[in-house]
Amino acid sequence: MSKIIGKPLDRVDGKLKVTGEAPYTADVPRENLAYGVIFQSAIAKGKVIQIETSTAAAAPGVINIITYQQTPNLVKIPFFPTPENLPTTQDDNIYYNGQHLGIVIAETLEQAEYAASLVKISYEVAEPTITIAQAEIFEPESIFFGIMPGKITRGDIASGKTQAEVLVEEIYTTPMEHHNPLEPAATLAMWTGDNLTLYETTQGISATQRGIAAVLNIPQEKVRVISQYLGGGFGCKALLRSHTILAAIAARQVQRPVKVVLTRSQMYTSCGYRSPTQQHLTLGATQDGKLSVINHIGTSLTSIFDDFVEPVGAPTTMMYACANLQVKYRLARINTITPTFMRAPGEAPGMFALESAMDELAAALNIDPIELRLRNHADIDPHTQLPWSSKSLKQCYQQGAELFGWSLRNPVPRSMRDGDFLIGWGMASATFPSNSGKASVKVEMLANGEARVKTGTQDLGTGTYTVMTQVAAEALGLSSQQVQFELGDSNLPNAPIAGNSITVGSVSPAVHQAASAAKQRMMQMAVADPNSPIYGFPVADITVESGKIFSQQDPSKQDSYSEILRRHGLASLEVTEETSPNPESQKYSKHSFGAIFIEVAIDELLGQIKIRRCVGVYSVGKILNCKTARSQVIGGITWGIGMALMEKTVIDPHQGRIVGANLSDYLIPVHTDIPNIEVQFIAEHDPHVNTLGTKSLGELPIVGVAAAIANAVYHATGKRIRDLPITPDKLI
Ligand code: MOS
Repeated sequence: MSKIIGKPLDRVDGKLKVTGEAPYTADVPRENLAYGVIFQSAIAKGKVIQIETSTAAAAPGVINIITYQQTPNLVKIPFFPTPENLPTTQDDNIYYNGQHLGIVIAETLEQAEYAASLVKISYEVAEPTITIAQAEIFEPESIFFGIMPGKITRGDIASGKTQAEVLVEEIYTTPMEHHNPLEPAATLAMWTGDNLTLYETTQGISATQRGIAAVLNIPQEKVRVISQYLGGGFGCKALLRSHTILAAIAARQVQRPVKVVLTRSQMYTSCGYRSPTQQHLTLGATQDGKLSVINHIGTSLTSIFDDFVEPVGAPTTMMYACANLQVKYRLARINTITPTFMRAPGEAPGMFALESAMDELAAALNIDPIELRLRNHADIDPHTQLPWSSKSLKQCYQQGAELFGWSLRNPVPRSMRDGDFLIGWGMASATFPSNSGKASVKVEMLANGEARVKTGTQDLGTGTYTVMTQVAAEALGLSSQQVQFELGDSNLPNAPIAGNSITVGSVSPAVHQAASAAKQRMMQMAVADPNSPIYGFPVADITVESGKIFSQQDPSKQDSYSEILRRHGLASLEVTEETSPNPESQKYSKHSFGAIFIEVAIDELLGQIKIRRCVGVYSVGKILNCKTARSQVIGGITWGIGMALMEKTVIDPHQGRIVGANLSDYLIPVHTDIPNIEVQFIAEHDPHVNTLGTKSLGELPIVGVAAAIANAVYHATGKRIRDLPITPDKLI
């Protein structure tokens, strides 16, 4: 019986954050600090002829200017398995607009910014490739570090198409999008002798430690990476980036701590983005609504020098029972920085296409959209043929439909109206894989009876400190106030990168195991100690609650963690445990699921879309904190609304510049755009996924939102919009 796990505990770091005391990377104070400002290429393709730095160097406060020509020989490291990796510029070749060409270091930020504006760069300009239409397109053999094939098939799509009595064959497109975390990327680099310390905005302290050590060719043990608080990451802080390397080089050169904070505008050119996608999708079904064929071909962009695929077909392979399927990727090389992971990479744009097409198929077959999904429900993973570790998608549909009032929907487009507004109701499914990795956790039992729990994980701002405190407190029999949780330092025991929604599934089992082991050790010490009030009782009979240790048979016999330590002459006691994913769990397909229902109201004359109501029901296994979990979902759905209606990065087709690289031109939702969002979780027990039964949550709730909105827009207007974002001009 959980007393603490699952409860809506307020964020344990909430007070520090609202009082401004949480040390985010850019806030970390240092004596003798110097400021670095990066200068970038103004062209998209060509060569640098000359970088003229003498005027800049003479500007007030300038300490040094380092161009790519003065950086030491850096080791290229495999971000991706391609021959040409580009940790930062190492020669005169320009591959994209915004490429980092060097760094100005000055006494103040303003002096560094001013001097950077005086750096004069001359170029030999070549004609860049900017659009998919101009690009060389190829079919990659494998994607995602070579772990997934570039083409997946089952059955025979030609015969599946022949069997089909109704076909939907359409092209769905999504634009380039940028992450825009509230906190921009920042690095504070400092050297003590040949030891490097980086305060870094990163989702992966250990990965950054390994990466920078490799690039600079120094031993990993000489690098320490600290990231205690993050203002969002969403994928753009997952990989080692050029500004971090330049900050480290600069700090070594000037023998002072150097801080680099990217500007909002530089965030658009320095940290990746979600590739635009063009998705050719074919769904075929027999009259009874059974899918006979799915063919999903996704084209996305990559850079000249690296392969990155937006894996739009990943959910397509496992979402519906269909014997004949093909998923294939195509890549277009253009003059851009390499795209990267962005919240629910693959699933977010992929499910826009798949769940829009399912709605089109439902309309063509005259079958209710939920009913069509139920008729094609995948009872096992149709691709791996493995059973699900747990799946409650049917309950998500049912509960969501009830909460939303779906049974009152008149399926005829344009049939619902409220004054000048056309009303539309749409729904879609959500899915995301539940993966996990190895994690190690140290528990320190302290003399005052409290515990300190440490692991090198990261908190993106979503609640890792809080939920891990709950898991540790529960396992130790302490209150959550009696547990301090430490994370975000590569000196702590190793934990995986905070990406792919794996943190809870990877770290909470290790926290639970280490805390349980620490409790067990303390119990054994007590029952074996003639001076303990619980001496001689079997350990199985002992309970700990809020730090009180007692025998269930005789609750008057009490001991405490602090007394046990004191009697043993110990100032503290440490237990470290490591957990790995259980190989047994590989016999199951592990995914979270959900269903999203949305009501739109559309001004018939102006084409303006207002989201009126939103219901999301999710099955994610055990919930560690119902408040932070709900917040995660609200954030994801809000982003999904932005993706559906607003977000779009525009590139100038001549010089590859990002137009409007700021938060006033790049539109995202504000409060008035977001309705009340009703969130429910299905009570779901998953005995296979990990010891606590938690599944992925962070990336799931953006998935399906854009399709649910496009489906609602169709229902309201009779217009099917297959190109995001759905802006008013597309409706009038
Ligand atoms: Mo996430 S896109 O794996 O940070």
